[in-house]
Amino acid sequence: MGICWSLPFLLLLLSLLFVTSEADFGFGDGFGVSIGGGGGGGGGGGGVWIGEGASTPNPTPPFSDLNSSYTALQAWKSAITDDPLGILRSWVGSNVCSYKGVFCSDLKDDGDGLPSPVVSAIDLNHANLEGTLVKELSLLTEMSLLHLNGNRFSGTVPQTFGDLSSLTELDLSNNQFSGPFPSVTLLVPNLIYLDLRFNRFIGQIPQQLFNKNLDAIFLNNNQFEGPLPQNLGNSPASVINLANNKLSGSIPASLGYTNTALKEILFLNNQFTGCIPEGVGLFSDIIVLDTSLNYLTGHLPDSISCLQDIEVLNFAHNNLSGELPDLVCSLKNLLNLTVSFNFFSGFSQDCSKLFLRSVGFDFSSNCIPGKGMQRPQPECSGAPGSGNCLEIPSAKPFACGSLLDILNNLPIPFSP
Ligand SMILES: *[C@@H]1O[C@H](CO)[C@@H](O)[C@H](O)[C@H]1NC(C)=O
Ligand SMILES: *[C@@H]1O[C@H](CO)[C@@H](O)[C@H](O)[C@H]1NC(C)=O
Ligand SMILES: *[C@@H]1O[C@H](CO)[C@@H](O)[C@H](O)[C@H]1NC(C)=O
Repeated sequence: MGICWSLPFLLLLLSLLFVTSEADFGFGDGFGVSIGGGGGGGGGGGGVWIGEGASTPNPTPPFSDLNSSYTALQAWKSAITDDPLGILRSWVGSNVCSYKGVFCSDLKDDGDGLPSPVVSAIDLNHANLEGTLVKELSLLTEMSLLHLNGNRFSGTVPQTFGDLSSLTELDLSNNQFSGPFPSVTLLVPNLIYLDLRFNRFIGQIPQQLFNKNLDAIFLNNNQFEGPLPQNLGNSPASVINLANNKLSGSIPASLGYTNTALKEILFLNNQFTGCIPEGVGLFSDIIVLDTSLNYLTGHLPDSISCLQDIEVLNFAHNNLSGELPDLVCSLKNLLNLTVSFNFFSGFSQDCSKLFLRSVGFDFSSNCIPGKGMQRPQPECSGAPGSGNCLEIPSAKPFACGSLLDILNNLPIPFSP
């Protein structure tokens, strides 16, 4: 779904690291970090050093960070069993800032008035390394980005990762990590971007994930299962991708109650059942909503018409039924509405006009009389029921402004 959610992160990366976009690995020659006068020595440094606090009995010398980074990176190197591109050949000696994929910056003032280099990022995207993560990586306390997309790391995320107090972006996508959801990521205090997609994680998604202050949550293409935590709507994230897992149960009714920042949410290709909750209408900024390839039943909620910024709606391959609401078809920013392979029984004017507006509109394999490419009649007469979807008492015209009031006054109260 082509929205450009990653731009802020990219900019952050670029501004922090000064890497150029053509540097596929983010390698290159480092980026002009001066190691200072320490002679690359393993830390002792020289000269006068004033400890951070008078009470520190054994003040850490300058470069202590790089020294512990050396420890961390060498421990990691020895846990890497295959390096077909020879990237780790550069991981020798105490000057960790010259290692391929390791980026330093002069951020930290050790108290002597001189900034010291610290490892601020590791970018080993597409390095095709095989191995595991090691607990010593938690020594990289100044590291803000860890990007490992496209390797063959396996095992789990070490428990020590909770100590990575500067880490804002953790990208473990396209690896072979396994086991339950790595809950230690929820303890990384400043994490903003969590990308676990295309791994082999299993089991349930923990509730705490959606209470955490993350801006991007990518869990797609794993083996997550079980119900979604009911607090999904608490997440302040702008993008949540749950696609291609084995999640089941209903889409939480609280959806949209608190998160108005959401731009893209993908439920596609899971095993969700039940209705599309009216609460989706509260996602005022959403651009992409995809619930395709599930077992959802019932009608499309009128509240979808409140999604004034929506561009892509995909409900294909479910058991949805009823009339396709004109309210949905009249959304002014719509580019693509896909409802194929459901049991919709009709649509009227505004939906017919979608073609004139050049909106992609695929309604094939439904039960719409007089239209081509519909299901054979016997399938339509056995169409699934509307489920028990709550229908907002239809005092049309439907008023989005009062949606929250309406929802709060429904017979079954929601607790946001
Ligand atoms: C660097 O760290 C290692 C192991 O942590 C330690 O043995 C060594 O003394 C340290 N070197 C300096 C100069 O601090
Ligand atoms: C969805 O519809 C299919 C085809 O009619 C049916 O076999 C299936 O049981 C239905 N599933 C649900 C959850 O309604
Ligand atoms: C509309 O979305 C569907 C599903 O995401 C996609 O397969 C299709 O190519 C899109 N059509 C257009 C015209 O963008």
